[in-house]
Amino acid sequence: MRPFAGKRVLLGVAGGIAAYKSAELARLLVDAGATLDVVLTEGGSRFVTPTTFEALTGRPVRLSLWERPLDHVELGKAADVAIVAPATADLLAKLATGQADDMLTTTLLVCTAPVLLAPAMNFRMLEHPATQRNLTRLREFGHIVVGPEYGALAEGEAGWGRMAEPETIVAYAGRALEGRTPWNGLRTLVTAGPTREPIDAVRVLTNRSSGRMGYALAASLWRRGAAVELVSGPASVPPPVGPALRRVETAEEMCRAVSRAAPELDALFMVAAVSDFQARSPVAGKFRRADGPPRIELEAAPDVLGSVREALPTHALVVGFALEDGDDAVDRAEAKRRERNLTCVVLNRLSEEGAGMEVETNRVALLFAGDRRVDLPTAPKTDVADAILDHLEPLLRRD
Ligand SMILES: Cc1cc2nc3c(=O)[nH]c(=O)nc-3n(C[C@H](O)[C@H](O)[C@H](O)COP(=O)(O)O)c2cc1C
Repeated sequence: MRPFAGKRVLLGVAGGIAAYKSAELARLLVDAGATLDVVLTEGGSRFVTPTTFEALTGRPVRLSLWERPLDHVELGKAADVAIVAPATADLLAKLATGQADDMLTTTLLVCTAPVLLAPAMNFRMLEHPATQRNLTRLREFGHIVVGPEYGALAEGEAGWGRMAEPETIVAYAGRALEGRTPWNGLRTLVTAGPTREPIDAVRVLTNRSSGRMGYALAASLWRRGAAVELVSGPASVPPPVGPALRRVETAEEMCRAVSRAAPELDALFMVAAVSDFQARSPVAGKFRRADGPPRIELEAAPDVLGSVREALPTHALVVGFALEDGDDAVDRAEAKRRERNLTCVVLNRLSEEGAGMEVETNRVALLFAGDRRVDLPTAPKTDVADAILDHLEPLLRRD
């Protein structure tokens, strides 16, 4: 799975209570395809045993500098990215001053790959000027500090100091591994999920869109270094780490959110399944069964792309999604591309197994100008998102 497949990841685990979460982090990294080397500090090994990580990674875990001579040089050089989670106050202090008195600190001093630090400690330790100065210094070295977050801490306290969640750390590690890409710094917006059009105070007109395809595209754009705004209807899956999330309900709200951002965009991805219709006059109360089936008059819902097209910069790349069925699906999608002046239309077929709404996989065809068509194989939506962006990359233009 991109970008971890075939990559060497170094995971350092220092002596904090959050070390229990690092086992989950190790599992996620291995599942993502990384070859994972774990180094525990002596303190770290008091919280989680090497056996846990050996079982999860299938590789030896390093504890002591003196066990296998020059392992620190080999591991430090081999890493494509290094993660320290949890990074204790003590470890931050050592790294900030270049101390190398154990296996982890020595290996990190050898490592020239990106280093991610996930601090975790009591909020008082975090607030201490020494820790703050160390964090500033480490950022100046180019290290990436992920978190810490606000939340429950040990001893029943709450505050800043909670280690970032494993999924968040994996997302940042993915972004670091991706490095510089042609998407770096581009301003992008992705719409995702269904919309909900009210009929009465409790009932809505909606559709089966899960949000997965749009979320996968937003995640992939963010990982490639783009600035991503994710305008999402009420999706049924959790949003990705990274993109700035703006939640909306109706086509009208989605229109407003996209219009606000449009003049600044380098790329717009219209993935949301926006309702084509809305109730002409939603009732304030609730339709009652006793009154019999209501007559609901529908009207066209706002056309999001139609209403923002003019506001987009001329260089902006515009990608639309079309869900079509029947023998003329390609013709209809191509007509949509031409009429709407899209850079590319992504065609999903309504009745195809493993494709379209609600499912975790997709099979799409990309239609470009000049009758160019690319058929992608059925794959998880995350892989489809990557393939779509790979095909769009040569068409990118900056203002
Ligand atoms: C029960 C317990 C919990 C601790 N939790 C943390 C913690 O969450 N964050 C932290 O920075 N230090 C914590 N410490 C202190 C570190 O373990 C201590 O500073 C140690 O020297 C860190 O060593 P290391 O950075 O080499 O792993 C804790 C200590 C104990 C005994």
